[in-house]
Amino acid sequence: MDTKTVLITGANGEIGHGLISHFAERDGVRVVAMDLNTLDEDTRKKCYKTYTGDILDNRFLDSLSTGHDFDAIYHLAALLSTRAERQPTIAHKVNVDGTLNLLEMAVTQSRLQGKKVKFIYPSSIAVYGLPDLGTKHRAGKIREDEWTDPRTMYGINKLYSERLGRYYANYYRQLDAQPMGGEIDFRAVRFPGLISAVTLPTGGTSDFAPEMLHHAANGEPYACFVREDTMIPFMAMPDAITALLVLDSADKSKLTRQVYNVGSFSPTAGELKACVRKAFPSAVVSFNPDLKRQAIIDSWPEDVDDSQARKDWGWKPSFNFEKAFQDYLVPLVSRFYESRKQ
Ligand SMILES: NC(=O)c1ccc[n+]([C@@H]2O[C@H](COP(=O)([O-])OP(=O)(O)OC[C@H]3O[C@@H](n4cnc5c(N)ncnc54)[C@H](O)[C@@H]3O)[C@@H](O)[C@H]2O)c1
Repeated sequence: MDTKTVLITGANGEIGHGLISHFAERDGVRVVAMDLNTLDEDTRKKCYKTYTGDILDNRFLDSLSTGHDFDAIYHLAALLSTRAERQPTIAHKVNVDGTLNLLEMAVTQSRLQGKKVKFIYPSSIAVYGLPDLGTKHRAGKIREDEWTDPRTMYGINKLYSERLGRYYANYYRQLDAQPMGGEIDFRAVRFPGLISAVTLPTGGTSDFAPEMLHHAANGEPYACFVREDTMIPFMAMPDAITALLVLDSADKSKLTRQVYNVGSFSPTAGELKACVRKAFPSAVVSFNPDLKRQAIIDSWPEDVDDSQARKDWGWKPSFNFEKAFQDYLVPLVSRFYESRKQ
């Protein structure tokens, strides 16, 4: 079996941990992982090589590119929505310039190797922007090309990066005498809020769901920063990892788009509380909306229409709302906090 070399940027984050654990259990994949922060020992052991560096540092990226032939780049490094709103210029640099640097690296890699390099990009429902709650309720499940009018720096960065990816894949240097387009196979999914049982998110606006669960499991009270009737889509982390991997391995001839919605379940914050309290009856959850973060969440869709992903590459989440809590989140999060107490 051929061994593939995969670069993961932002490998120290929530998705990076899940992805690296998945690859570690499979033969035929060599993971080269990089992050601004040094990876923990356990994660390092699962990788072929790890680097501490900045995606804004072109000399560092050049040395990475010189040292390895990448078959695929999973570009995860980013500043998430709440952090991006607090530091918009830094977010723009990391989320846009950083992505541009990685796309340039992919072009160089593809030329050196004489073959296409896959570029797998996790985008977000933050690319959507609905003007008011009434429109959000009426819109229901929205398709990829609807309501792409984001109101956050993060959403703007993600939408623009999707378009950069499409440009590099289809139109790169189109005025050259011999245009070189098509060297990058750019594929993106727009994730809803992700909930992991083993890592806590930092800096996202959908963090209220994982925070509610983790506080309950750890016996701490939680004041939720959105209203009880707030509804946005969520997904369990294992399904997010599966989405990236299945899209990566999908037959190119079947793909009708470069950017796909992927959905899973869409509870209200009140339904999340009920589910958390069913598992942890003594959990104390109150609602204390932060009006500014609430306004951002209110501009994100209630749900996404992911029928194109289902049709083109067989997307199907393994977890619905009940199953995600019963079979994955509650057992693992309980074990996680129990093991920390020992
Ligand atoms: N977690 C979610 O709910 C969610 C939802 C939609 C999309 N996404 C996207 O998925 C990707 C990964 O998300 P995550 O949840 O793992 O985020 P995370 O915040 O847990 O991880 C991001 C990682 O990127 C690293 N990083 C930041 N700036 C960097 C830089 N300049 N150079 C190198 N590394 C840098 C951070 O150190 C961090 O380890 C991001 O692109 C995010 O936008 C996440």
